[in-house]
Amino acid sequence: PEPGWAIDADVVVVGSGVAGLTAALRCTAAGLRTVVVTKALLDDGSTRWAQGGIAAALGEGDTPEQHLDDTLVAGAGLCDERAVRTLVTEGPDAVRRLIETGAHFDTTSEGEIALTREGGHHRRRIAHAGGDATGAEISRALVEAIRDRGVHTVEHALVLDLLTDAAGRTAGVTLHVMDEGQHDGVGAVHAPAVVLATGGMGQIFSATTNPPVSTGDGVALALRAGAEVSDLEFVQFHPTVLFLGAGAEGQQPLVSEAVRGEGAHLVDADGVRFMLGQHELAELAPRDVVAKAITRRMREQDAEHMYLDARHFGAEMWERRFPTILAACRAHGIDPVTEPIPVAPAAHYASGGVRTDLYGRTTVPGLYACGEVACTGVHGANRLASNSLLEGLVFAERIAEDVVANGPHREGTPVPSAPPRVMPVLKPGLRPDLQRIMSANAGVLRSGESLRRAAAALEELSVDAVMDHLGRSSEPCTEAWEAANLLEVAGALVTAALAREETRGCHWREDRPERDDAAWRRHLIVSRDSHGL
Ligand code: SIN
Repeated sequence: PEPGWAIDADVVVVGSGVAGLTAALRCTAAGLRTVVVTKALLDDGSTRWAQGGIAAALGEGDTPEQHLDDTLVAGAGLCDERAVRTLVTEGPDAVRRLIETGAHFDTTSEGEIALTREGGHHRRRIAHAGGDATGAEISRALVEAIRDRGVHTVEHALVLDLLTDAAGRTAGVTLHVMDEGQHDGVGAVHAPAVVLATGGMGQIFSATTNPPVSTGDGVALALRAGAEVSDLEFVQFHPTVLFLGAGAEGQQPLVSEAVRGEGAHLVDADGVRFMLGQHELAELAPRDVVAKAITRRMREQDAEHMYLDARHFGAEMWERRFPTILAACRAHGIDPVTEPIPVAPAAHYASGGVRTDLYGRTTVPGLYACGEVACTGVHGANRLASNSLLEGLVFAERIAEDVVANGPHREGTPVPSAPPRVMPVLKPGLRPDLQRIMSANAGVLRSGESLRRAAAALEELSVDAVMDHLGRSSEPCTEAWEAANLLEVAGALVTAALAREETRGCHWREDRPERDDAAWRRHLIVSRDSHGL
């Protein structure tokens, strides 16, 4: 569709989590005309669901070098060491600036930032807020700052495609806006810099910790725009998600790693602490190790879940330290004070994404990516717990620095001359079918055979969906655009997972159980053509 309205800006930020809002605040502070567009409401993304916290070498005796070591080990040989070094050295000051922006972290009785542990960290390094509501506090502080500074925001705005000028440089984005009055329907923001901060793609799986908005929109846009996308096969499954039944679909309640960080035990159906002896850090091994151990034990015992036992915390500690998790468990009829919590792995985080350099620049000039949508190289094959909020913060600041340093290129910027590439619009109801295909065949445990099954099923779904759409005359709705994105990213992920014939980090191939450094210590870059779309 042709854009029916347009906004002119120096930079448009797509997404409103920690990455997007930090980039927007920094660009605004530097005097750039900044527009934030977001698919739902400003605080509807993944950031506000983050529980455990934000990792940074803030504690006495801790150093960025130790944080670097833990990150590299978790990343299973695929981290970009320069990117990790950037993250861990700039991290502590970025957290301090977040505090200056208005975020309140929990403190000790001496007034220092209170720090906890999570999987893969050899030290207490995780700052948290409201006990287990860290993301909610960060989101609150950033949204408030955005409003205070009068940043132009457009909510209910689903990004469609990138606009480019005659030279192939970024010239803005097209959007589909619902119910916003002033800007309704398909429109555009014209800007020479676009920051993708659209978050993850957890909704390609049936059970996920991600909110319904995490449909891979940024990766899909980048693929359509010809940008390089990397490491998509490394989807992280969080080991301890509240188990609500084998058929549970959509967003599931997270039980933070910080619960294990404070001493909870994982036990099997017989009450045995099965992580002991599996890894020197036991329950606090890196996330991929714990998710695999849980999945193996579930198979051995033919069980649908394991248990997290933290009864020994007692009611006072549960209420003070983990009020969000306590309330979620109780809402589902489980009282962690008196009984172990049933848990199972669920899709949690895309370690890969749109490939960027150390300033968030993608391979398309003027297009930046930041946060979960990006692949900066800091996560490798498996993200270290609580490095994601930090990555969003640190690289958003670097992006803003780069956008400002390069100037907004306004002189002579042509009106977009290339017509917007329009995505195929697919049937809205495709999501549950796609999720079932992906969870059954491309989830925590995969094989060449299951991945080929997934590829064939996605292909069939895509043909059916397009046929279904051709028979309709109605205007596409947000769900239909999202369906196209889900299909695009699921297809790319399956292609990458099929190609990587080894087991590494959170990519677990039953038919290729070993890590193969000789052949596979490298990245897989997917482009639109390589997965046949
Ligand atoms: C958690 O609180 O367990 C999530 C932390 C993370 O995903 O980094």
